[in-house]
This record gives sequence, structure tokens and C-alpha cells, in this order.
Amino acid sequence: MVRVAPSILSADFAALGADIDRVSSEADLLHVDVMDGHFVPNLTIGPPVVAAIRRHTDAFLDCHLMMTNPGEYLEAFAKAGANHCSVHVEVDGTAALIQSMRDLGVEVGLAINPETPFEACEPWLDRIDLLLVMSVHPGFGGQHFLAEAIPKVARAAEIARRDGLHFAIEVDGGIDVETVVRVAEAGADTFVAGSAIFGRPDPAAAARAIRDAATAAAPGR
Ligand code: DX5
Ligand code: ZN
Repeated sequence: MVRVAPSILSADFAALGADIDRVSSEADLLHVDVMDGHFVPNLTIGPPVVAAIRRHTDAFLDCHLMMTNPGEYLEAFAKAGANHCSVHVEVDGTAALIQSMRDLGVEVGLAINPETPFEACEPWLDRIDLLLVMSVHPGFGGQHFLAEAIPKVARAAEIARRDGLHFAIEVDGGIDVETVVRVAEAGADTFVAGSAIFGRPDPAAAARAIRDAATAAAPGR
């Protein structure tokens, strides 16, 4: 199944509720980019904003935690209404972070940066709900897609098939109607897009176009 996750990083933060409403009919997940000014060189959203979004919408909140110390904030994000959290494999303590997300009842995601070898996430694939393959260096919206993501997606899909695992494969960064085809063909099923959705005059139509392009390209359609 193809899923589209509009990233609110490219929304108008002064009109966030209205921007969320503009995409909600096409948003299987709403991607919330949390940046701590340390793991990445930018600062964005914390638990109070997630709580405000939760009060505004029933959307599935996919929180991407670009943080050095996500373990200190998982409970706050869960309480704020996050449905899913992805932590980075580059951060220490993956086993404890996964356990703590399970204990809190949020879906478990593991994110991997472009420069990190795929092997770093392999030991965890049997206990996560989603693998988040970064196709830009995290920190900012509107960057160009990095093709290093494609073999990682293909390898993850191959392992999932081989071992009968059911984690989702999400790709994040530089996704538009063209790049989505390349990662969908490789086996990704969940597509984050910020600027290619909120940067367009009709964000819902832009999200639908990404969904249609992915669906046409996905293996076994
Ligand atoms: C980048 C973020 C992405 C970002 C994607 O650090 O993790 O989720 O919003 O933005 P686009 O789609 O514009 O590359
Ligand atoms: Zn993200």
C-alpha cells in the first residue's frame, strides 16, 4: 500500500491548522520534523506544538525525531499525541529507545542518514514498524534527492521479503513526482514530501500526484 506523509516543515507555521486542513484528505500520515539544534543544525517543533496539532486533527502523527537525546522526550511526545516516533540509528541506545517507544504505545521507527551504512539498521529490522531512509542530509526542507537512498530501500525490501518482516519503508527528502518513482520501484511504500506538497498552490492535488506516481511505479501494483 502506498502512503503519503506531507511534512509540515514546509507548511506556514503561522497558519499551521489551516495548512494541515488543506492536505488532510490526502495525508495517510502527517510528518512532523523535530529538530534539536544539535543532531541537526536547525530548531523546529517540540511536544507543545505536537499537542496543539493533536487538538486540531485526528491525523496519524509521524514524529521524526532528529535529536541527540530522544529518550528524554519520548514520553512527552507520546503524551502530546504522537502516534509514531522515529529515532535515528546514529544516536546511541537503540535497543532502549525501541523498548521505550513500545512501552509508551507509539509505533516504532528507525531513521538512517545518507552517510550511514545500511548495516547499522539491520539488527533492528525485526522489531520496528518502520524504517525511515533519509534521502537528504536532515535539517532543512527543499533539498535535492540523494540517490544513495535507493540501494538502502532495495536492501530493506529484500530483507523484509526474505525474512517475512512487515516494517514499512519510508523515504524522506527531495521526494516529488519524479523521485518518488525511483524509490517506489526499489520497494518503498511511505513517502514524505514537504516542499513538493506545501510549496504548490494546491497541496492536496500535489500529494495526490505523488501518490499516483508511486502507485503506478510500485512493484506488484
Ligand atoms: C529534512 C526533513 C524532511 C523535510 C523534507 O530534514 O526530515 O522531512 O521536511 O522536505 P522536502 O520534501 O522539501 O525535501
Ligand atoms: Zn523528516
